[in-house]
Amino acid sequence: MATDGAGMRTDTLKIALLGCGTVGAEVARRLDAHGPELTARAGAQLELAGIAVRDPSRRRTGLDPALFTADGAALVGRPDVEIVIELIGGIEPARSLLLAAMARGASVVTANKALLATHGPQLYEAAEKHGVDLYFEASVAGAIPLLRPLRESLAGDRIRRMLGIVNGTTNFILTRMDETGADFATALAEATALGYAEADPTADVAGHDAAAKAAILASLAFHTRIRVGDVYREGITAVSADDVASARDMGNVIKMLAICELSADEQAVSVRVHPAMIPRTHPLAGVREAFNAVFVEADAAGQLMFYGRGAGGAPTASAVLGDIVAVARHRVGQGRGVGESAYAQLAIRSIGECVTHYYVHLDVTDKAGVLAQVAAVFAANGVSISTVRQDGHGAEASLVIVTHSATEAALAATVENLRGIDAVREISSVLRVER
Ligand SMILES: NC(=O)c1ccc[n+]([C@@H]2O[C@H](COP(=O)([O-])OP(=O)(O)OC[C@H]3O[C@@H](n4cnc5c(N)ncnc54)[C@H](OP(=O)(O)O)[C@@H]3O)[C@@H](O)[C@H]2O)c1
Repeated sequence: MATDGAGMRTDTLKIALLGCGTVGAEVARRLDAHGPELTARAGAQLELAGIAVRDPSRRRTGLDPALFTADGAALVGRPDVEIVIELIGGIEPARSLLLAAMARGASVVTANKALLATHGPQLYEAAEKHGVDLYFEASVAGAIPLLRPLRESLAGDRIRRMLGIVNGTTNFILTRMDETGADFATALAEATALGYAEADPTADVAGHDAAAKAAILASLAFHTRIRVGDVYREGITAVSADDVASARDMGNVIKMLAICELSADEQAVSVRVHPAMIPRTHPLAGVREAFNAVFVEADAAGQLMFYGRGAGGAPTASAVLGDIVAVARHRVGQGRGVGESAYAQLAIRSIGECVTHYYVHLDVTDKAGVLAQVAAVFAANGVSISTVRQDGHGAEASLVIVTHSATEAALAATVENLRGIDAVREISSVLRVER
């Protein structure tokens, strides 16, 4: 290793890239196109040593075919490679390749939320054991600088709550439903046609993608190991055009939110992902189409909002390249960046203990005394009603009830009891209302 008089590295840092798809290809091209700038910022020459892909015979525009290999393990095992970038996705072989890289003393950068949300602690332990960096800015909210602010800039503050729009597909669908009155299926078809939704949209519309990101965010914000299995999850498939119209009538908008909260006694956290109404005046309400944003409430900083593109090759590559420069700087200075901070080990609250407001839409028989019966059920379960709107149409009526804050358990018991009232024909919708 060559060093200058101050002990700083002066030689070349070799980089292995695993995966050359939507994100990997952008990273490779930008490393090549912006080499001198990135080198100046990193403090050492950055050189792409090889790229592992599934099919190395496929031509990739603008990239040297000699760089490609199908043997990711051999690339990661090269003793001259000091930084490994994982952009394959999924659990295996990504996990094994990153562990092998770290065991050999290489620092790693990944955008893989699924891997971090399931095996984050194992990866952090490997990074700690081998004295290397594990960076993953692109794993949540694409281009938005968010994880480094949480890990570093806000390290002196106490985060109370985060509300995030962290899935562009669902935000696009809900935006179209709100702005055009479309139902879910129509808005999903439009998202698919425009390339915002995958052919199988389950990971997005059922909330799996957002849940993995919420686990990563909550782990960093609350210094506690939180895995995707700890996150309560509901998707947006049941959100109807009527719900969206009701939200609008109430001055609200429905957003798919990742909500990470510290409990009032500061002993526990809750992490949940579900559609929720928020006031149209909330900063997140204006986050349209496929954009992402995370709203953070911290003791000293107050309210912060991070906004930008949450996906796409170039935006995600921006975050990956930022990590590459950061990790390279540490290697030049022969130091390390921040590792895992999980000292707090707070308890994780079940969904039943979470407290919020609710919107309940009931179809009832339009006769005297029904409203009183319904109100009595809410009262018996300790759920206080904030507003009621009743619309009659013939023999039927609809009741739209918004509650004051109550636990999920109390609301669930209320809904169960409402099903036992003869005059309640259908509970057509229950949605959370975040203030
Ligand atoms: N796309 C986004 O907007 C976005 C945003 C944020 C985070 N991410 C994350 O970034 C990562 C990459 O996403 P992507 O959209 O770029 O994926 P992608 O387009 O599907 O690309 C995956 C790449 O991995 C290669 N690959 C697959 N299996 C492999 C194996 N066993 N060994 C070596 N290479 C293998 C593929 O090779 P071939 O090219 O030969 O098929 C391809 O180049 C994922 O973790 C994803 O969650 C993506």
